[in-house]
Amino acid sequence: RIKQFGRFSQLLVVNSTTADTGEYSCWPRQCDRSDCGKDEERTARTFVFFSDPQELFVPSDDYYEVVQLRSDRPTTLPCQVTTPLAKVTLHREFPPEDLPVNGIEISYDLKKGFTIHHPKPSLSGSLFCMASYQNVRQISTKYMLIYINYPRAPPVATVKASVSSVHAGDNFNVTCTAVGEPEVDTEITWEYPGQEIGRPPYIQESTDVVRSGGHMQKEWVSVLLVDGARAVDEGVYTCSAQNLQGTTDVTTRVKVL
Ligand SMILES: *[C@@H]1O[C@H](CO)[C@@H](O)[C@H](O)[C@H]1NC(C)=O
Ligand SMILES: *[C@@H]1O[C@H](CO)[C@@H](O)[C@H](O)[C@H]1NC(C)=O
Repeated sequence: RIKQFGRFSQLLVVNSTTADTGEYSCWPRQCDRSDCGKDEERTARTFVFFSDPQELFVPSDDYYEVVQLRSDRPTTLPCQVTTPLAKVTLHREFPPEDLPVNGIEISYDLKKGFTIHHPKPSLSGSLFCMASYQNVRQISTKYMLIYINYPRAPPVATVKASVSSVHAGDNFNVTCTAVGEPEVDTEITWEYPGQEIGRPPYIQESTDVVRSGGHMQKEWVSVLLVDGARAVDEGVYTCSAQNLQGTTDVTTRVKVL
């Protein structure tokens, strides 16, 4: 129940349960014309534990939760306790193993759960948290961690036509080359002038591993082969190289004489 008074407001939690554990925040609302946004700087926060010695974890609807363990960012397992005095540990289900929490690779925050700072493929699988307080010991929801190799950046792409102007009837080709991390998939797609009228170009694709600046990189090459150039083939050729982190578009222009 929320009560508004002249200069303050009050939130009343009635018949509370452990599920009410968490952060409570409030902020003054000042509407400038249409902008009624939340002002982070003027937001006050407090964390409230609703403790129950028989229920050590904040309850969840799910028996298990799938968590993406992304290679490029920390992952949090939100096993949050209802009492700040509980001792919480992290475990692997199979093979059974206690995971060391040293604050560097993995840390624990009472208000958030466990954070894996440097995700590795070896951490994937089923993990759970265990809390103990007085004589009670309980386990949390199970977290199914799936490792996903995210590239650090979108691929680097270049595109080049074999000729910048071609005589009608001659053949030409346009080559797109994308370079990226070897373990990450990259997809190349094309947009070209003849596409609208369903002109079929032939596409040749290949991959290669190249050494660049001391480390291995993968190279994806896509060649668009145009047989017997026509007026409709004149225009902009766009190659899009996409990985999980984003897309790089590169273009080149071909003139038909
Ligand atoms: C709180 O619980 C009591 C007893 O179970 C019940 O009578 C009452 O209606 C509840 N109040 C609210 C606001 O749900
Ligand atoms: C593309 O065109 C150039 C110049 O005509 C030619 O040397 C090359 O072999 C062609 N590439 C392919 C894959 O056909």
